[in-house]
Amino acid sequence: MSRPEHHPDAPEQAYTDFTRSLSYGDYLQLDTLKSAHRPVTTAHDEHLFIAVHHVSEVWLELIIRELRAAMAQLEAGITDAPLKGLTRVVRAQEQLTNAWEVLKTMTPADYLQFRHAFGQASGFQSAAYRMVEFLLGNRFEALLRPHEHRPDLHGPLQEAMQAPSVYDLTLRLVAARGLSIPQAVLNRDLSQPPVLNEDVLAAWLQVYRDPAHYWDLYELAEKLLDVEDNFRRWRFNHMTTVERTIGFKRGSGGTSGAAYLRRALDTVLFPELWEIRTRL
Ligand code: HEM
Repeated sequence: MSRPEHHPDAPEQAYTDFTRSLSYGDYLQLDTLKSAHRPVTTAHDEHLFIAVHHVSEVWLELIIRELRAAMAQLEAGITDAPLKGLTRVVRAQEQLTNAWEVLKTMTPADYLQFRHAFGQASGFQSAAYRMVEFLLGNRFEALLRPHEHRPDLHGPLQEAMQAPSVYDLTLRLVAARGLSIPQAVLNRDLSQPPVLNEDVLAAWLQVYRDPAHYWDLYELAEKLLDVEDNFRRWRFNHMTTVERTIGFKRGSGGTSGAAYLRRALDTVLFPELWEIRTRL
């Protein structure tokens, strides 16, 4: 079907003079974006490797921003609005996990063509990934060390490690609703990962046995579980991608590699929200 010459959607109607207005590429700083893409070998797959890391870092930054916004709302005592931000986190996590499908097309031989080029660099040193973990509550002093040479990255990470996690803020709301959360949990050492607490579990059991009465807390808990569920999927896909690419060789970051990543699969961010399934 041909278009009438002056149809409003005809390409001739599109703006073409950007001498004095912002174009698509200007607004998005595409030259800067592309300039960050600098393979150091001529290996075909290094391009893919860098692209998938870059895309992942962009999603991680978005996740941090949405998590922080949701946490500020939780801190202000709001339970419904954070669901919107957390839903966005869940969707962004799906994009992160899907990225493995593209990277998995790289074979071990493809990878070996450029592995030598990046020395000790590793995703283990991703400040954005650590920030997401810290905001979610998985905190260990040792994970800060790779950032000591960069005070601009180390400072915010250290701050996040001393501040309540998304789960700490949720438990404060549960307590504010009159459910019993022990003072020891509310005043816990925030620099440590969470540990399952029977009284917290009892409070969640009340919520889960009467969802209609505690609907907002119930929805919030289930949304947090979605976030952790997706986090586990990312971890699992990373681990299997690593194993099919480098087997059980040491990681470029110095850990045992796939074995280290397998152990990390046991991490639990919101222990009571998982245990409740067994106890209900
Ligand atoms: C074939 C590609 C990849 C391989 C072979 C690989 C390998 C590894 C290994 C072996 C580790 C353990 C730490 C170490 O280096 O010793 C690790 C950690 C990590 N990698 Fe990858 N990786 C790949 C792709 C990616 C991508 C695309 C991302 C996206 C951001 C990523 C993010 C991370 C993160 C965040 C960690 C730290 C995990 C933790 O401490 O729990 N990796 N990677």
